[in-house]
Amino acid sequence: MSTQQDPGPAGDGVFRTKTVEQSILDTEEPEHGLKKTLSALDLTVFGVGVIIGTGIFVLTGKVAKETAGPATALAFVAAGIVCALAALCYAEFASTVPVAGSAYTFSYASLGELVAWTIGWDLVLEFALGTAVVAVGWSGYVRSLMDNIGWQMPEVLSGTDVADGFGFDILAFVLVLLLTVVLVIGMKLSARITAIVVAIKVTVVLIVIIAGSFFIDTKNYTPFIPDAVKQPAGAGMDAPMVQLLFGYEPTNFGVMGIFTAASVVFFAFIGFDVVATAAEETKLPQRDMPRGILGSLVICTVLYVAVSIVVTGMQHYSELSVSAPLADAFKATGHPFYAGVISFGAAIGLTTVCLILLLGQTRVFFAMSRDGLLPRFFSVTHPRFGTPYRPTILLGVIIAIVAGFTSIDELATLVNIGTLFAFVVVALGVIVLRRTRPELHRSFRTPWVPLVPILSVASSVWLMLNLPAETWLRFAIWMLLGFVIYFAYGRSHSRMSRKSR
Ligand code: ALA
Repeated sequence: MSTQQDPGPAGDGVFRTKTVEQSILDTEEPEHGLKKTLSALDLTVFGVGVIIGTGIFVLTGKVAKETAGPATALAFVAAGIVCALAALCYAEFASTVPVAGSAYTFSYASLGELVAWTIGWDLVLEFALGTAVVAVGWSGYVRSLMDNIGWQMPEVLSGTDVADGFGFDILAFVLVLLLTVVLVIGMKLSARITAIVVAIKVTVVLIVIIAGSFFIDTKNYTPFIPDAVKQPAGAGMDAPMVQLLFGYEPTNFGVMGIFTAASVVFFAFIGFDVVATAAEETKLPQRDMPRGILGSLVICTVLYVAVSIVVTGMQHYSELSVSAPLADAFKATGHPFYAGVISFGAAIGLTTVCLILLLGQTRVFFAMSRDGLLPRFFSVTHPRFGTPYRPTILLGVIIAIVAGFTSIDELATLVNIGTLFAFVVVALGVIVLRRTRPELHRSFRTPWVPLVPILSVASSVWLMLNLPAETWLRFAIWMLLGFVIYFAYGRSHSRMSRKSR
């Protein structure tokens, strides 16, 4: 690789692209490069570590109870298909452009600087808010465990959802700060911790599936797809975008309820794309990236479908709990011991989700600053640990504060829309890069291009349309802010701009 020439930027202005060769060369600058230590197994562990989290442990019950009934399993299948289509596109990009930054880097190489900035800014939203959401969910499980042994947090330190008036979630705040320290110390250390925690989490999920299957009452599966129930009309900005756009009235339950549910449980799959952000730290990215991404996605989809079938079989969907459905289903069937073990495993498991989302976030920020779109100050790695410690500390502190002061519901849908938007850009990027750089070596090729990327775009947009109009508005405001920053700073400071002068 080091014999490659720097071909400089291609194209002009906001459409200038950073060539693939340039992206790879950048990683070889000693001060700005990351250590290559990860294998396919590490990546798969990372993937499973970040994918299984609040989605399956918390959202399953809410969605089964309110929108899909036992057919929640089908909602997981639908969301899983959307993610698999996106994963096939991510895998091609990650194996072709093996540098830090995920969809951001991929789009810089294919769709131009403005799109790259847009996607990078979007990923900041996905990862940062995702970290905060999961930290708050984690804190809830820890508090419930503390309750079990008779310890009670003061309400004022238990978060905005619990406290009357002022509430600060001290546990979520402290968790994010501790994980920031782990990431500053180094990738390998965090990978090792992650592996242990992932093992605990997967064991707990398997306990739910295996032990729970003995407590299933098949009567609970009738009806498997409950009859459709119209949502209250004119819910305004709370209504799904699809309703406002097409005058189509959404229902809970029924076949359409499965799609509404899919747009929510989509959160449970977020994270496989994070695997792609570690491409630069992977020993053999061309081979290991596709394995890591697709492997972790398949494992999680199978587990989710199994868990939702078991849980809706243990308890009638209308009686499921919305805060701790997996543990509570065991309590409801008279097995509190399992409930305790599951709560414990969930609390441990959510830790890795937070850690990896935080990792993905700092890597995107690092890549953007290395390209000059954000100040270069942030792309100097630590002399001893070799980690991008500056963005890690800055973002860790900001996210800890957000996690401390924010309630999770509205943030979660914002995370979903941001992630789906990234999927759309990556899928389009695969098509564009095949046309503009057909000769590039791709160790993993997305099958049936352009059909698979087009299906990926269409299915991601469909899920986005099922999200509330309010979420779209917030997303638009965030992206607008991003454009202001790009045109005020990034455009003139970009390394590509300096080279083309
Ligand atoms: N997929 C992750 C979760 O479910 C973000 O928490």
